[in-house]
Amino acid sequence: MLPWLAIGLAGYIWFKRMEPAAPVCPPSLSGVPGARLMYRYECGRCHRVALPGMEGTMGPPLRGLRDRAYIEESLRYPGRRVVPGYINGMPSFNELPAAEIKELVEYVYQL
Ligand code: HEC
Repeated sequence: MLPWLAIGLAGYIWFKRMEPAAPVCPPSLSGVPGARLMYRYECGRCHRVALPGMEGTMGPPLRGLRDRAYIEESLRYPGRRVVPGYINGMPSFNELPAAEIKELVEYVYQL
């Protein structure tokens, strides 16, 4: 009985360590267009971004993407073009209001 409990607990801890934590938005950025949504939608769990706490490694670092149409496509239909070397693991943000998509696209564009 006890060994199984220990194994279960070890498995649980291992799993939790694999699951990246969502970066918390510093109060100073909570009103900044783009940045606020990057925290709300937890992009930093999977991407390294030039924002506090955004150190994710599941997806590529977000910088230097100078193509608004491509960024929007990546948000709406992430599986259409998968960056080589990464898994097709990004959730779709196609359900977001158009204004939020635009805000995110502008933010990622200038990174
Ligand atoms: C669960 C993890 C996860 C989350 C959350 C996530 N992404 Fe991604 N993202 C990925 C992965 C994995 C890829 C690479 C595969 C692909 O191209 O679809 C990717 C690719 C991208 C790309 C294309 C990058 C390139 O170099 O071509 C962009 C842009 C992007 N993500 C933006 C975002 C934004 C903005 C958010 C938050 C609104 C976000 N992602 C949230 C996992 C994630």
